Amino acid sequence: MAEYWSKHWESRTDYRRDLRTEPLWETIKDIISNKGLVLEAGCGSGQWVVFFNGLGHYSIGVDFSVQPLMHAKKQNPALKLMACDLRSMPFRNDSFDYIYCNGAVEHDVEGPEAALREFCRVLKPSGKLMCSVPCLNVERLFSLWWIALRDWLKKRKFLRCIAGKKDPFEFYQYLFTPLEYRARLESCGFKVMAIRPYGFRKKGRLQKTISYFADKNLEFYNPHMMMAICQK
Ligand SMILES: C[S@@+](CC[C@H](N)C(=O)[O-])C[C@H]1O[C@@H](n2cnc3c(N)ncnc32)[C@H](O)[C@@H]1O
Repeated sequence: MAEYWSKHWESRTDYRRDLRTEPLWETIKDIISNKGLVLEAGCGSGQWVVFFNGLGHYSIGVDFSVQPLMHAKKQNPALKLMACDLRSMPFRNDSFDYIYCNGAVEHDVEGPEAALREFCRVLKPSGKLMCSVPCLNVERLFSLWWIALRDWLKKRKFLRCIAGKKDPFEFYQYLFTPLEYRARLESCGFKVMAIRPYGFRKKGRLQKTISYFADKNLEFYNPHMMMAICQK
């Protein structure tokens, strides 16, 4: 997996420093209003580490993919970055005021629990976790049959040969329903204060019809991701 991410970051060397236009900013800005020590878990090129520092926090980024960390260090030697696995981090218990993790824990084939338990260990009792994963939303639930069939086809060796793919099929990520995500966080020691969906696709006809009859917007109809805000 770390190798996969190093390749992923090779072509993504630029990053924006002002992330206030990101949908995630709306989701987290009220959570991190007090200055504190922030851990970005799975920081990649460190764009959020730079951003949090700019807001007056003291931030540390960790990732097991070394290539983007080295690139970020070259651009900004003062950045505090460290290569390590989220499932076993070299920090004392109760160290951080905030842990921010965007799109990392869902990539562990064993499930997100090992990383979530580690977040719980290093977060201060008064601290907050902001952790996002892909959402198994209503639209995706309707197309689960297609997701399963697509993965089954991707695993067939002869189809991979025809498509010219040399590597074997590798697990990529889990999707979670909001209920399942909440249960997993709670099983790792967190109290879930909110789960906020973001990254919506345009409203389709079905969504408009359901919203019309339900007389309200279905917030988990088609968000790509959801971020949990938790305390321990
Ligand atoms: C989708 S990227 C997110 C990057 C960054 N958070 C951002 O928003 O720009 C996920 C990152 O998590 C890292 N990652 C995934 N699993 C990890 C693990 N077990 N330990 C350390 N890093 C991990 C990957 O190397 C990758 O850089």
